[in-house]
Amino acid sequence: MKTIGLFYGSTYGMTETVAQKIKSAFTNFQVDLYNVKDTPRETPGKYDYLIFGTSAWGIGEMQDDWERWIYALENIDFSKKKVALFGLGDQVMYPESFVDGLGTLYCRLPDKSVVVGEWPVEGYKYYFSLADKDGKFVGLVLDENNQPDKTDKRIKKWVAQLEKEFV
Ligand SMILES: Cc1cc2nc3c(=O)[nH]c(=O)nc-3n(C[C@H](O)[C@H](O)[C@H](O)COP(=O)(O)O)c2cc1C
Repeated sequence: MKTIGLFYGSTYGMTETVAQKIKSAFTNFQVDLYNVKDTPRETPGKYDYLIFGTSAWGIGEMQDDWERWIYALENIDFSKKKVALFGLGDQVMYPESFVDGLGTLYCRLPDKSVVVGEWPVEGYKYYFSLADKDGKFVGLVLDENNQPDKTDKRIKKWVAQLEKEFV
């Protein structure tokens, strides 16, 4: 079975819980989970399939551990890899910087041509998001603060999409 390396940063544990749900939703891939705060920087290089997840902490900010760890990606050859992204945010409290962490994570990827798993913006209400690129989110967007009831269904749909796009 092919293996995905899933790397996340999480302050209150919401992104961590979601990462575990994403892992459980895959049927055709094994998923190894890594919290970036205690993961060696060369670890992503071992995987052909990668998922990166972060929460949002203010205008353009990724989760703190990602802010310190993002430099790890600069030394990785992405040319033969596929990468999918997901982000958590709060569209009611932060509608002008909704899931900005996800948008910044995308911006900081050295090679954006390897990104799959884009996600529709319909079903969310916000004024501005760095993760909204040409009317699509650059990855799965989840709002555990305001739409926790939608999370499981969104994960199921996104994972089914990735099972096809990770080839
Ligand atoms: C001080 C603070 C700032 C935040 N800033 C943003 C923000 O700018 N945009 C956003 O979408 N969510 C923002 N959030 C919401 C978090 O990203 C959200 O609650 C997330 O689920 C936390 O996940 P974690 O526990 O895995 O870190 C903020 C939360 C706090 C407490």
